[in-house]
Amino acid sequence: MPSESVITVTDLKKHYGDIKAVDGVSFEVGRGQIFSCLGPNGAGKTTTVEMMEGLRTPTSGSIEIFDVDVTQDYASISHRVGVLPQDFEPFERLKAPEAVAYFGGLYNRKMTKQDVADLLDTVVLGHRAKTVAMKLSGGEKRRLGLALALVGEPELLFLDEPTTGLDAQARRGLWSLLENLRDEGKTIFLTTHYLDEAEKLSDDVLVLHKGKEIARAPPMGLI
Ligand SMILES: Nc1ncnc2c1ncn2[C@@H]1O[C@H](COP(=O)(O)OP(=O)(O)OP(=O)(O)O)[C@@H](O)[C@H]1O
Ligand SMILES: [Mg+2]
Repeated sequence: MPSESVITVTDLKKHYGDIKAVDGVSFEVGRGQIFSCLGPNGAGKTTTVEMMEGLRTPTSGSIEIFDVDVTQDYASISHRVGVLPQDFEPFERLKAPEAVAYFGGLYNRKMTKQDVADLLDTVVLGHRAKTVAMKLSGGEKRRLGLALALVGEPELLFLDEPTTGLDAQARRGLWSLLENLRDEGKTIFLTTHYLDEAEKLSDDVLVLHKGKEIARAPPMGLI
């Protein structure tokens, strides 16, 4: 049992008519953990994440984040959460520093040029600061998305398939970024299709299939 729980999900369900996208899932995520939700296409990963992000209303069950019932009051914790959506695409005509500064404005965070540069260095994108987003590689765009998720200085990150479509080297680069963020004390909930990723990164793994938990273990246990 995690020492201090950041997320507590209990018997969570989301049904769309006959489709049971999420069908009775429970888990707990402790502070400073990387928690992976592993599963194939259609398993219910995005549905689960988006309910935690206050974007979809559960059919039933409960979600507490920072001891707040997010179905009732997501707004009171939203400033403590950073989000990287599945298939994130940056504004293609903005350069990375412009995109970061724009998001800083949305979060009411006064960012100096140095703050912007430091954040881009954190995601190893400082050297691409003069390039418009449409000319970045897939891995670089994903790192820009991570930078935007970090603009609000969140304690908790939701990353929906942060490494899908990246080559092996770019994936490993992202893994070490996430480990650094975890070591700084951030809590990370990510979804993935890759067992090796869940194994390498996570303190805890939930395996979903057709909306249900089919396995739950620290990574070594899964193998
Ligand atoms: N708005 C919706 N209306 C109806 N069905 C939906 C809706 N959203 C999701 N579903 C269904 O719920 C199931 C779970 O979808 P979800 O997107 O959560 O899966 P996923 O695990 O994120 O898959 P992927 O790996 O492809 O991203 C799928 O069968 C999907 O078709
Ligand atoms: Mg998905």
